[in-house]
Amino acid sequence: MRAWTLDEFGLENLNLREVPTPTPGPHELLVKVSAVSLNYRDKALVDGIYAPEKMPKGLIPVADSAGVVAAVGDGVTKYRVGDRVTSHFYSTWHDGPWLPEYADFQMGGPLNGGLAEYQILGEDNVVPTPSTMSDSEASTLPIAALTPWFALREYRGLKAGDSVLVQGTGGVSIFAIQLASALGARVIVTSSSDEKLARARELGATDTINYRTTPDWAGAVLDLTDGQGVDVVLDVVGGDRLRDSIRAAKGNGLVAVIGFLEGQTASLDLMDLIWHQTHIQGIAVGHLRSFHDLVRFLDEHTINPVVDSVFAFEDAPRAYEKLAEGAFGKIVISTP
Ligand SMILES: NC(=O)c1ccc[n+]([C@@H]2O[C@H](COP(=O)([O-])OP(=O)(O)OC[C@H]3O[C@@H](n4cnc5c(N)ncnc54)[C@H](OP(=O)(O)O)[C@@H]3O)[C@@H](O)[C@H]2O)c1
Repeated sequence: MRAWTLDEFGLENLNLREVPTPTPGPHELLVKVSAVSLNYRDKALVDGIYAPEKMPKGLIPVADSAGVVAAVGDGVTKYRVGDRVTSHFYSTWHDGPWLPEYADFQMGGPLNGGLAEYQILGEDNVVPTPSTMSDSEASTLPIAALTPWFALREYRGLKAGDSVLVQGTGGVSIFAIQLASALGARVIVTSSSDEKLARARELGATDTINYRTTPDWAGAVLDLTDGQGVDVVLDVVGGDRLRDSIRAAKGNGLVAVIGFLEGQTASLDLMDLIWHQTHIQGIAVGHLRSFHDLVRFLDEHTINPVVDSVFAFEDAPRAYEKLAEGAFGKIVISTP
């Protein structure tokens, strides 16, 4: 089969090669990959800044994939040849609290990912592809959709009438808008672009704030909510702006710490935190059981992922460059 392999760090060292097609072992599926989608981590990993010490030479990268079962190993009971499946990121995290050993079993590094014609996935490392989605659309789900779903449902049980603040219009945030809106929540979105904010409204955002022209977006959230703040902040920005997320959250509200676009360390105003009695919750994608719940929800609500662009398999490096340039929605690479 053909596969892209990362022979050294750096996009120039991503090479298209002929490699042996793997054979499924017990409880494993051989999946004919139809599409993969890129996340921030996939680019960081190629650049050598995402746990570089854990990445094997010759890794087949890209965490998120969707495809069709081409063969099954001994003992497989959950899927059959011809079934459409979507990969699960933390391959050994099925339910319950996160454990440190799960870190070594992430798809797309340290484990081989989906940027190949075929891929081995455990039968407990996939979900059925939502019936309402193409494989290209489904390939966007494993990280970008499960992450906000996990925060909203597992840690807050978000319900109609609650309010959510979503930062920016990247992959995680667009899914957050769609999911929170389908759950009946009020969704306040920030962006650097009025045009993107208009598109966010079409996806279900109820209120929008341009964080370039309104740098005190936390103050704007308080104005919009009669000084109360929101039930949940999905924080993808990180850095010292985390203190603004705490300001923007309701008393006893949840700040889900997801991203670190502005930095991986933060200084906090502890008095703000204490007065607000804020729950600060780190989020690391999510487990398989929650992914199954998400698939059912997406099917019931016919939510279609927003795909910015689709690249041919042979043009995979261009897709990484496009990710670095910025996109509205997800970047997909389709596999012949
Ligand atoms: N913890 C987890 O499980 C998990 C899972 C997925 C992603 N992440 C992390 O979450 C972050 C976002 O990931 P992503 O894939 O959604 O990224 P992305 O698609 O690259 O989104 C980036 C968007 O964030 C917005 N943004 C950038 N800087 C900002 C700032 N200073 N203030 C407000 N918004 C800003 C911009 O939106 P506008 O163009 O609209 O301004 C930009 O388009 C990354 O740090 C990623 O590593 C974590």
